[in-house]
Amino acid sequence: MITDESRRLRCLNGGVWYLPQDERTDRPVLGYVRGTEGALMVDAGMGPGHVADFFEGIRKHVLPSPDRVVLTHWHWDHVLGLDDLSRCGLKAYGRGETDRELEGLRGKDWSDSGLDAMVRAGDLPAFSRDCIRREIPEAAQRKIGGLDILVGDERSLDLGGLEVSLVPLDSPHTDDSLAVVVPEYGVTFLGDAIYGRRYRGVYGYRVEQFIAMVHRLLGFGTDWYVISHMDPLSRQGLEELLLPMAEMAEFVGDRGDAEGCAEEYAGKLGRGLTEDEVQTLGFFTQVNALEL
Ligand SMILES: [Fe+2]
Repeated sequence: MITDESRRLRCLNGGVWYLPQDERTDRPVLGYVRGTEGALMVDAGMGPGHVADFFEGIRKHVLPSPDRVVLTHWHWDHVLGLDDLSRCGLKAYGRGETDRELEGLRGKDWSDSGLDAMVRAGDLPAFSRDCIRREIPEAAQRKIGGLDILVGDERSLDLGGLEVSLVPLDSPHTDDSLAVVVPEYGVTFLGDAIYGRRYRGVYGYRVEQFIAMVHRLLGFGTDWYVISHMDPLSRQGLEELLLPMAEMAEFVGDRGDAEGCAEEYAGKLGRGLTEDEVQTLGFFTQVNALEL
């Protein structure tokens, strides 16, 4: 167990709880939503240790065990705990695209030498390999579970007087993103949906997809947004994070010249740009330059 006091399960609002992210091994947030006739978990985490820390919090706060788990997307840090959860009887929900990706992960060699091979092939960052080894030292425990219920279009789950919506998103991060919206408690779980992805080795965003997603997310109108590798954000916090990026995306349009865009954007603002701003403009121009 590597969880310390600051990383224990905590209440966000009403029946919504979360286990905070932990950058030491890149653990994403795990969510918990409680109704009167059931409870669900958001994401399956990165293996037995992560799952154990989550359930330790459930026991400590005398909460009912979740009977289902929703995957926000297929990346390994969100799914390596799934096999354990399925054996505990939780039903797993996710998109058909997630199911297909899990099948692909199941076909990989998760032994120590297999992880090294994935790093050499460029399929896994070395940092991720090291995190997997720390989180799941025994290679035999690195198993990829499966889904029980596939989510096509948006659908509601009734947890007993509490409705939860599972909302497929057109996300820059992956093609299988699924948001979990809890209107009653004003919370949306977004997984990694706001992050970019690598296009032919270049990290960034497609301009139109990013702008559309920002409007979609703010349209949920909840008070809280939980992003997997950050502390929860208020609605204002999400606006402060995403609206300046959307403005830059609008400015960039279909241009691919990073330097020219940065220079003109500085002119528009009437000041020099911060390093973060230059980098963010680059996320859009670099992907445009690939002419995808
Ligand atoms: Fe991810």
